Amino acid sequence: MSLVGRSVTVTGAGSGIGRGIAERLSREGALLTVAGRREAPLKELADRLEGPVRVVAVDVTAPGAARRIVDAAVERYGRLDALVNNAGLARFAPLEDAEPADLDAMVAVHVRAPAELVRRALPHLRERRGSVVNVSSVGGTLAMPGRAYYGASKAALNSLTRSLARELAPEVRVNAVLPGPVDTPMWQDAGLTGDQIENLRTTLLAATPMGRFGTGDEVARSVCFLLDPERSGWITGALLPVDGGRTA
Ligand SMILES: NC(=O)c1ccc[n+]([C@@H]2O[C@H](COP(=O)([O-])OP(=O)(O)OC[C@H]3O[C@@H](n4cnc5c(N)ncnc54)[C@H](OP(=O)(O)O)[C@@H]3O)[C@@H](O)[C@H]2O)c1
Repeated sequence: MSLVGRSVTVTGAGSGIGRGIAERLSREGALLTVAGRREAPLKELADRLEGPVRVVAVDVTAPGAARRIVDAAVERYGRLDALVNNAGLARFAPLEDAEPADLDAMVAVHVRAPAELVRRALPHLRERRGSVVNVSSVGGTLAMPGRAYYGASKAALNSLTRSLARELAPEVRVNAVLPGPVDTPMWQDAGLTGDQIENLRTTLLAATPMGRFGTGDEVARSVCFLLDPERSGWITGALLPVDGGRTA
């Protein structure tokens, strides 16, 4: 498989979809660098996986974070082939109750940090004719009543993906996956009550033709496809829904 021996960095790999991506990449033979704020879940992941894993405990929005993450990967493996911008957070609230600071926080993690990571990684990605995959959301293309700030931040990430795909071609490919609902800790951290979470889950399930939530590994398989030049070498600027048919 052509991800064997490739140096791949994944942000937000300590839980949920990011952990699924790291696990699958490791199984496919990638040399991993994983980043997130909490060190413990990243270390637990590193201990469990068979392949090499470099852990970087850092807030991706902090000054100097992108440089630290990129330097850690290059120092450990001598190169950086690919970057998966997965770190994310959800603050769901109707507009009247929403805090403008929540919009700032989501833009910082979903847009500014990925942009800065690509900028810092660019010389390495160019040298390796590498690839970027951004973990966006169906919320970046669909209307998101009650979750407008989240949707707006992911729409900005979609725009960044397409613009950078044009700007960085042909050396570096830039794509995004747009997951539908996946059971992860993000739901518990989104600022909703238990009842509100249950109502939203029911609504989303009814809007998903495949009739179930996705899994982290199902998103991870699409990420691997987009990272691997043998499988997707002529694909750049794609916004790939991985959503059980929701956007259809
Ligand atoms: N779950 C879904 O239904 C769904 C649907 C569509 C898209 N997504 C997207 O999928 C991605 C992963 O989400 P998830 O569902 O797997 O949620 P999750 O389990 O909460 O994972 C989010 C990860 O991001 C990390 N993170 C958050 N803020 C960070 C920061 N400032 N710096 C570094 N790391 C940070 C968290 O680790 P620390 O707290 O340790 O930093 C955590 O490991 C997100 O971009 C999310 O928007 C999720």
